Amino acid sequence: IDNDFRFGRWPLCLYAEWKEVPYAEVSTRKKTFAEVQTERLDQAERTVLIKCPSKINEKKLLQYLSSHGNVKSHFFFENRGISALIEFSEKGSIASLQDAVGIPSASEHHVVPFKSRLFTFTLKNPGSQRIEETPLHLSPQCHIPVKDLIEKLCLADSISSQMYMLLNEYQLTEENIKLRFLACSLVRDFTCAYFPDSTVKPFGSSVNTFGKLGSDVDMFLDFRDTGKHATKMKKGPFEMEYQMKRLPSERLATQRILSVIGDCLDNFGPGCVNVQKILNARCPLVKFAHQPTGFQCDLSVSNSIAIRSSELLYIYGCLDSRVRALVFTIRCWARVHGLTNSAPGTWITNFSLTMMVMFFLQRRSPPIIPTLDQLKELAGKHSCFCGYCSLFNFFIILKTNFSLLLLMALVFFPLDVLLGEFFEYFGNFDFRKNSINLRKGKEVNKPESSPLYIWNPFEQDLNISKNVNQPQLEKFVAMARESAWILQKEDKTQQIMDKEPWGLAALLIPFGKSNSSKMKNRMKGIGSETIRSLLDSLKLNNANSQQKAVGK
Ligand code: GTP
Ligand code: MG
Repeated sequence: IDNDFRFGRWPLCLYAEWKEVPYAEVSTRKKTFAEVQTERLDQAERTVLIKCPSKINEKKLLQYLSSHGNVKSHFFFENRGISALIEFSEKGSIASLQDAVGIPSASEHHVVPFKSRLFTFTLKNPGSQRIEETPLHLSPQCHIPVKDLIEKLCLADSISSQMYMLLNEYQLTEENIKLRFLACSLVRDFTCAYFPDSTVKPFGSSVNTFGKLGSDVDMFLDFRDTGKHATKMKKGPFEMEYQMKRLPSERLATQRILSVIGDCLDNFGPGCVNVQKILNARCPLVKFAHQPTGFQCDLSVSNSIAIRSSELLYIYGCLDSRVRALVFTIRCWARVHGLTNSAPGTWITNFSLTMMVMFFLQRRSPPIIPTLDQLKELAGKHSCFCGYCSLFNFFIILKTNFSLLLLMALVFFPLDVLLGEFFEYFGNFDFRKNSINLRKGKEVNKPESSPLYIWNPFEQDLNISKNVNQPQLEKFVAMARESAWILQKEDKTQQIMDKEPWGLAALLIPFGKSNSSKMKNRMKGIGSETIRSLLDSLKLNNANSQQKAVGK
């Protein structure tokens, strides 16, 4: 502990108040969100992608590469053929490789002189190469289809283990995360041409611990480091004019920046296709498909609210193993029942749904996660914390101190209990009157009549689910009630004997397709209520349409 303290790894107040923390816990300090990001971005800067022939000799490839530097890690994956992600120990190895490669020459193409980090590995005499006996391991970059997942789930021994199984199948792998950071780093190679100090960082589900294999990569162009530099300069008599081009609004500056970066990616970005500039959206962005990594990407300009939301969810996701398993389960359930959709529309977004799960975990008794106000209070007590993100370490310690309580909570409130409670909670939530406030961890009167009102935790008076209409909310409530019913009433032993999907597997089959007669009976119960709410919503919508939209 003394060493950790001496090297400034622990703020004094933590040392004083939590000195009973076991040594092992302190010496294996978990990294903060910012530290993890920095480390991964640094890794990505030392990384290249190599397209390989279908019959590749792994040893040979590594042998060639070793003449340029030490390969720290590598893996192979399938994406329009086989590719290898190669992480060098030193950044200089990339320049050495770039200097040694040939540039394709074809009379019908004109080569744009940009040294990329994408390579193709070809052997002069592929026939003469001995193929390795051990087959190449290909790291999966997408999850198994729901149909296969359902079959797997039926083999589990409890609903809780089904939920952890789903988490294991769907969550991002270490390799997929590396690929996501690489995609950002490759885009940065372009943004640096215009803004040398800029960085491109992922946010959203790529980093908030709730990312699923196959989800998009949300990235933002960050000038924060440039900002820091500018502040330093203020001390002297000089100001950098090139940074100071004045535009009438931040939005206009964002639009201009994204416009040139979008054009640049479109014209010269290797493997950047279907580039769409969506500059008039509430949050201007450039959408594109990045073929070398296989990701759909959304590039925006630094948005502190979105970053803080990502950090907050990261903290919640790391606090308790049940949080992520529950979120993945609910997201998958919502997708199967058409409650969410990858296209924007009037349905609930994954982001809103995640916030609803967090709210439920704050509200249940005893709560599983703290409210934002509680986090803020703790941050206030410990003045050395500059923001919520730094609280992460604090919670690791908190967890250690209350490990017995947590263990009890795990035993008495296993995941299947939480799942059932979630459906019951939102199946009976008074959406007409109440809104969801994660800051207070309380249901509060709706400030306006949107069908679903979830307060943006970092920007009060903004509703993150303003897009959701009444029929979509109705559908969510009906599905939640149906699912609560299934969990309570279904007989696992009987279902196994009848070779029917049970537990979570039964919840992941569109309800019309199985037990349709049972479903109809149960829906009858809520039918009249649904009609009543629809009529109410018509009144609400009418009143609503007279109000001016106020952003998210
Ligand atoms: P998936 O991509 O579906 O896996 O989840 P995601 O969390 O990445 O959602 P999405 O790609 O739609 O959005 C990326 C990030 O933008 C989210 O994690 C939020 O931080 C932010 N975001 C998305 N929608 C909203 C919104 O309506 N309001 C606010 N304040 N932030 C949003
Ligand atoms: Mg996303």
